[in-house]
Amino acid sequence: MNEVIKAIKRRRSYRSYTDKKISKNILKEIIDCARLAPTAINVQPSEFVVITNKEMLKKVADITDYGKFIKNAAACIIVLCKETKYYLEDGCAATENILIAAESFSIGSCWVAGDKKAYCKKILELIGAPETYKVVSILSLGYYDKPIEAHGKRKLKGVIHWEKF
Ligand SMILES: Cc1cc2nc3c(=O)[nH]c(=O)nc-3n(C[C@H](O)[C@H](O)[C@H](O)COP(=O)(O)O)c2cc1C
Repeated sequence: MNEVIKAIKRRRSYRSYTDKKISKNILKEIIDCARLAPTAINVQPSEFVVITNKEMLKKVADITDYGKFIKNAAACIIVLCKETKYYLEDGCAATENILIAAESFSIGSCWVAGDKKAYCKKILELIGAPETYKVVSILSLGYYDKPIEAHGKRKLKGVIHWEKF
């Protein structure tokens, strides 16, 4: 199996992390993968706020409803998009690249909802982003102790249709 396929298949949502910091070079490499994601008409509406400061991590965690574990993460990446026609698809493509790139460094991550959540406005205020931006996703990152096995995933034969539904 090649390394990309391995990382995609290994990726799980991690909500607890070790205390190990993530180096700036690795964070930059992860964001570099995000910026290279496909975007509709190549408009590239996404920008990324990387947070490693403990107080800020706690503030982000407190704003979310199901992302309280962000306070114990080594980093959090907020995926922002200018409000273009396909911002959500574009921002989600960037988001997935981040999760897979993180896993390739054996860094666990969890996608915490943005976009449809009422708390997005508070997130924008906290990070000092213009209120015209959309918060597509909030991602926690940190090294994990033990890999989590895939569970409850639909089987390949239940989702694949050849030629017709
Ligand atoms: C759009 C979206 C929003 C999500 N929001 C949250 C969230 O707010 N909190 C959380 O703990 N997990 C969240 N998740 C992670 C899912 O719960 C997780 O991906 C799912 O349970 C499958 O587990 P896996 O990622 O380990 O395969 C979100 C995932 C997506 C795609």
